[in-house]
Amino acid sequence: MPPSSTARARATVFAPRLAALLDDHLGRDVFRLEPDTVGVAGHEVADRILAARRATETERPTFKPLHGRSITRTEASTVTRTIGNDVRDALARPLPENVDLAGPWPLTGHLFLRDLILGQDPYRLRLLMSRTLELTPKLTWSVIAAGAALPGWPRPDARFTGLADRAARTRGYQERRYVMGLYRRAAAPVCFTVSTLVANALWLGFPFDDGTPDRNIVLESLRLLPPSWNILRNASPEYPAIDGRIGERDDVLLLPLLSHGDPALWDEPEAFRPERWDRLDPDTTPGYLPFGHSSERCWGRHMVMPLAELLLGLIRGSGLVVDPGQRVGRVPLLGLLGVEEVRLTRPR
Ligand code: HEM
Repeated sequence: MPPSSTARARATVFAPRLAALLDDHLGRDVFRLEPDTVGVAGHEVADRILAARRATETERPTFKPLHGRSITRTEASTVTRTIGNDVRDALARPLPENVDLAGPWPLTGHLFLRDLILGQDPYRLRLLMSRTLELTPKLTWSVIAAGAALPGWPRPDARFTGLADRAARTRGYQERRYVMGLYRRAAAPVCFTVSTLVANALWLGFPFDDGTPDRNIVLESLRLLPPSWNILRNASPEYPAIDGRIGERDDVLLLPLLSHGDPALWDEPEAFRPERWDRLDPDTTPGYLPFGHSSERCWGRHMVMPLAELLLGLIRGSGLVVDPGQRVGRVPLLGLLGVEEVRLTRPR
């Protein structure tokens, strides 16, 4: 399906540093970014770097130490399973009626997912899903500290998610702070990242052809605007042996944003073509790393895909449109890559 003329009329404007990264390095495999950082976009080198060793606890995005306290792999796995069950439970319930998804995205999708999945959780936990907190970790930690200290800590309640139930059973200020931090770490990617991903899809490809599966739209959006656009690996003795351009003190920044647009790997890399996923397997396509590497792929991807597909399906069935007056989508330089705001409106 060629992108519709409406989709083509929209311009994606990257923050200057992202635009420079694309302009200077697209199609290159290994290049210096900073005196102590090497960028890697070539899929073979990336493959070998990521397979060389496991991510350390500070490199892990979701479960890096929480205010200096390590999160064990067992705990990370339990928490991921818990939120996974919460998502499954939410998807098994009838959807709320008269959902209105019009408004600015990703905010609207974020609030929808927060209410769908965490809607019955105590206010002091749901508050941790505020998008304002995204901007400053200091503010997040103050809200957590206040929440853990306030009297009236929630008691277990059958309506809570498993994640909130865990929190409700926790005693003592330090433990409560920790468990609130974990709640945010596990729930945030579900609400923030999935809504960002869907906003990106709307921006890149709306209106979608009726026959195009939601899955293909999500996979193609993850290619062109991967929310996790970089993967960091700190300097490690294995790396110089893989490529002589990497020094022993160099950190390595792997860049799916670049490998996903490499002209050597993709036909018409700049085009939004969901139908390419009719034939490609996202788990084995070279250079396609929206969920990381096969040796240690994202543990949350099995909840991300159904949630993103649910949102897309609801929007496609709603009659809403991406505001035809919106011609520019800005992509700021943030940890999470996405179009800042996409306006979804009723057709006039
Ligand atoms: C669109 C949504 C998401 C994207 C694009 C994404 C992307 C990624 C990527 C690229 C990695 C590999 C990082 C590396 O190798 O350093 C990763 C790892 C991981 N992701 Fe996700 N993720 C998403 C949602 C989630 C969710 C909802 C969860 C669960 C709560 C989750 C949990 C994890 C975990 C546990 C890891 C393993 C590394 C770690 O311990 O942090 N992710 N993810």
